[in-house]
Amino acid sequence: MTTKLLDGKIAVITGGNSGIGLATAQRFVQEGAYVFIAGRRQNELDKAVKQIGRNVIAVQGDVSNVADLDRLYDTAKQQEGRIDVLFANAGIAELAPLGSITESLFDKIFNVHVRGLLFIVQKALPLF
Ligand SMILES: NC(=O)c1ccc[n+]([C@@H]2O[C@H](COP(=O)([O-])OP(=O)(O)OC[C@H]3O[C@@H](n4cnc5c(N)ncnc54)[C@H](OP(=O)(O)O)[C@@H]3O)[C@@H](O)[C@H]2O)c1
Repeated sequence: MTTKLLDGKIAVITGGNSGIGLATAQRFVQEGAYVFIAGRRQNELDKAVKQIGRNVIAVQGDVSNVADLDRLYDTAKQQEGRIDVLFANAGIAELAPLGSITESLFDKIFNVHVRGLLFIVQKALPLF
């Protein structure tokens, strides 16, 4: 019997419903992990769950919303009791020239990539 790289490991992947996050979730499951994927679009989460096929739970939410992060980690805690791997992957690529950056674009980017990232990691710590 061959041992897989992530046998028995529990992973949380933000932005796990598309792109790099989804590809990572698929690979993690192939390597033996159980994954919790998070993202805002429920339809993409549903598609991702089908595509991954097993050992996956999707939790809808926005990483810039602390209450949504609490729901994500509460779900992981209730289902598996801990996490071993966190991939803080959720992000947005909205670019603007310096002279065109608006306060709302600044807030949107920083709420996900800075504020969101900090609370994604902070709130995961008790589960490691
Ligand atoms: N691809 C590249 O060349 C590249 C280069 C540099 C950095 N990156 C970074 O790598 C990461 C993945 O990129 P990708 O190419 O795979 O992009 P992608 O396909 O657009 O995936 C981004 C993921 O993040 C999720 N997401 C975005 N905002 C979110 C929010 N507020 N709350 C929860 N989930 C959110 C999206 O799901 P929902 O829309 O459903 O929320 C989606 O699953 C991103 O952080 C991106 O900025 C990518």
